[in-house]
Amino acid sequence: MGHVILIGMMGTGKTTVGRILAQLKARNLIDTDLLIEKREGRSISEIIGNSGEEYFRMIEKNVILSIDLKTPSVIAAGGGAVMNDEIHSFFKNAGRMVYLRASADTIYKRTSNLDTRPLLMQGDRLEIIKTLLNQREQRYLDCDVVIESDNRSPMEIANDIARRLDL
Ligand code: S3P
Repeated sequence: MGHVILIGMMGTGKTTVGRILAQLKARNLIDTDLLIEKREGRSISEIIGNSGEEYFRMIEKNVILSIDLKTPSVIAAGGGAVMNDEIHSFFKNAGRMVYLRASADTIYKRTSNLDTRPLLMQGDRLEIIKTLLNQREQRYLDCDVVIESDNRSPMEIANDIARRLDL
């Protein structure tokens, strides 16, 4: 199926790039964090803060696996989503996965707003980012296209994705 799924760490621009790409190619944008917030009627911070990460991951899986894939869309996936094997396979079948790659330093600079990133509030932010990157990089690289996002604007990145995927 012809979906474009943006994966990668928090702060790599998945939502912003996704919005531009969706607009450029007249597609819907599906933001998995927003779907989760709608389903739960509370913010990601509240969900993780009050009910814990394990609960969040369960809701994340349920919400993503029930996405209606009929209309080819752009999907911006929460940073940890593809670490779940079922979600990863679901996305593989849904279309092409694009890894927005950024260095730990870039991610650090782009995640100063912690409201939606409670996982980064649990200690030294740069250290947490480096640890998560280490744990996740291999899975992120199991994708169709890797796009470097350091020092590039969301518009440049969106155009690059469109070109690389021949959209
Ligand atoms: C997470 C990333 C967040 C959100 C949650 C957990 C992660 O989404 O799903 O805070 O584990 O990397 P973004 O990648 O859209 O910030």
